[in-house]
This record gives sequence, structure tokens and C-alpha cells, in this order.
Amino acid sequence: MDVVKRVLLVISGGIAAYKCLELIRILKARHIDVRCVLTESGAKFVTPLSLGALSGDKVYQDLFSLTDENEMGHIELSRDADLLVVAPATANILAKMRTGIADDLATTALLATDKPVLVAPAMNVAMWDHPATQENMRVLEGRGIRRIGPAEGDMACGEFGFGRMAEPGVIADTIESALTRSARLSGMRAIVTSGPTHEAVDAVRYLANHSSGRQGHAIARALADAGADTVLISGPTGLPDPTGVIVRHVSSAVEMLEACQTELPADIAICAAAVADWRIDAPPAHKIKKNGKAPVLKLTENPDILATLSGARKSRPGLVIGFAAETENVVENAIGKRRDKGCDWIIANDVGLGSGTFGGDSNTVHVIDEDGVEDWPTMSKDEVSVRLIDRISHHLETKS
Ligand code: C5P
Repeated sequence: MDVVKRVLLVISGGIAAYKCLELIRILKARHIDVRCVLTESGAKFVTPLSLGALSGDKVYQDLFSLTDENEMGHIELSRDADLLVVAPATANILAKMRTGIADDLATTALLATDKPVLVAPAMNVAMWDHPATQENMRVLEGRGIRRIGPAEGDMACGEFGFGRMAEPGVIADTIESALTRSARLSGMRAIVTSGPTHEAVDAVRYLANHSSGRQGHAIARALADAGADTVLISGPTGLPDPTGVIVRHVSSAVEMLEACQTELPADIAICAAAVADWRIDAPPAHKIKKNGKAPVLKLTENPDILATLSGARKSRPGLVIGFAAETENVVENAIGKRRDKGCDWIIANDVGLGSGTFGGDSNTVHVIDEDGVEDWPTMSKDEVSVRLIDRISHHLETKS
């Protein structure tokens, strides 16, 4: 790594805090700077003296102490780092992060940051399995916070199960790859479409589909994590806005296209939205009354956003990627779609009944470009996103 990267390491109060000393040592050996924030309960397990000696920096503990002029306030601390890492992350700090409680320096820095955050949970197995912790973690991951572990094994409390903090070497590898990725697309601008569209039938009804937006949102987050200036144009989903991404909320296909065109120019466009193919011709502004006769709805074809961006003469993004949600002949249909729409790559996925793709956490995709078809194993939607961003970075690097 050419430029020295800095991690802000938040140490909360768990027995695994002792493993942070080893983590700091490994990171320093890999030329990654570490600055520590120690919570009050974290200080019951490790001392500021040992953290300071290993990190070679001041250890920050108090929200309101700025005793010397070289000290940084919470905002500066959280922005000056390239990555925030919470290790160990207790059930308590995860709950605070989920709700936005900022009652000490650690939680305030975590609320104020505009940088990616990685958490390494560590707690008793029952605390990890508790629905409250599981839900907190799900919400945090939905916002783009990355998790490593916990691992399964014997725990300090004498129980066995999931709850052990990931080993320092594994955390260090994850930190290193996150830091390497964080610069790969810097200076690039990306547009991502995600979610379904809603096409008005009348003042209260609409046509829609089962897209959850999870894959598109995960891609937007991964692009932002890779340093791209990212705009997510999202149809109606139940998902929180990912951090570090500008989100434009739209409802219909026509609105989605307008938003995309407003956001051009871009270097990368990824159309992951499940855009409705048709809209209702002239939906009435009132609610259609039920009168014993089913209404006949006249449909009009929606604009194809992917084809429009791919064919844009002046402002075509350098790399345009589409998705092909298919239920049969997945790859063959996707190859045809790539040709018809004029995009550079198309990512084919099976959304047939039983595939679990729509609304699920995992995806099995085939990446199709001018050179052929690449079959990827089944992965989580986050993993698909990270691998896609690696492929994009590699493509852009070799192109330039
Ligand atoms: O034609 P089909 O809907 O299967 O194509 C899927 C791809 O085209 C996806 O990338 C989707 O986001 C995009 N699309 C679009 N606008 C449409 C229809 C599909 O951008 N009106």
C-alpha cells in the first residue's frame, strides 16, 4: 500500500479486548496506522498504557477532554481515519449503534463518521443469539456496516457456541482488504438503480413486483466502500438508505429514468432495478370505483432505462451493467438481452420459484461480457457486490 492508511479502533468492554493488543501489533507490522478509542468498560480489560505503547498514539477515552492542542475532537477523530473498526463489539455497543445513542466518545465518533465501519462482535452465545442482538446486527448490516465473526468455540464464560471474537489475524486481513478496496474506485462516479417500480393504476392502487432492492443496495454500498462517488436511484423498498451513498427515491419507471438522466455523466452505471415493463395508460387521479364490472386497463410500454443509458450518444457511462432476472434458459436469454440492450456486461440470475433470489439473502449469478460467460458460486448478495466491484476495478485498471 503506497499511502499510509489509518484505522480508528474502538475497543468496547469484553474479555476479547485483550486480543486488540495483538491486532494492533499485526496492523502496525503491515504499515497501517492505528488510533484507539477506549470505552469506559473497555478500560476494565485493557489499559490505555498498553494500547498507547503498541499504537504509538494517544488513546482517546473522554468525549469532553481536549487537554492539549494536538488532541482531536470526536468529529475529527471519526473523519480522519479511513476505516472505523469496533473490536470487540459488545451487544451493548451494537444496540447503541443501531439506535444512534451517542453517550460517550466511542458511540459519538461512530455516529459522526462518514467512513466505512467494520464490527467484530464478541459476547456470550445467548447474548449473540438473542433476537434483540440479531435484529440490531441485521439493521446495522442493512445500513452498510460490515461484520466479521463471531466465530464458534469455547468462550471465557465456559459456554460453547457462536460469540467468540474473530482472531486478530483474520480481522487484520479483513481490514487490509477493506482499506485496499477503499481507494480502488476513487474519483469515479457511479449510478445504481435498485428495487421495484410502482406504476399507478389509480389514486390508490399500483402494479409492482417482488424485488426487494437488496442486491442493488448492496452494490451501491460496495461501490461507495470502494471510493466511488455513488448515487443510488431507488424504487420503493423497505430498506434503509445505505451509508456513504446519495439516495434518490423514485416511484415509477419514468421517474427512475428522469433521475438517472439528471445524475449523468457517470463512469459506471449498474441497473439492478426490476423496472416494470408496462405502466397504465393515463391512470385516473381518483380511486376507480367497484361497480360489478371489472375495469379494463390499457398498458403502455415503459422506457427501458438500461437500453437508454447504453445507447446515450453524448453521455454514455464508460461501463454499463445490467441484470437479467430469468426463470428459464437463464444464460441464453441474458446473452440475448446484453446484445439487445447494448450494455457492456449483464449479470444473469435465476429468480424462478424456489430460487430464493427475490427477497432472499443469496444469489447465484453468471456474468456475461463480450468474452463469454463466468459462472459464480452461490454467495450472499453482499459477497456478489464485493466480487463485482473487484471485477469492475480490475477491468477499469486494465483498460487505462
Ligand atoms: O428486459 P428485462 O427487464 O429483463 O431487463 C433487465 C435489465 O434491464 C435490468 O438491468 C433492469 O434494471 C433493466 N431494465 C431497465 N428498464 C426497463 C426494464 C428493464 O433499466 N424498463
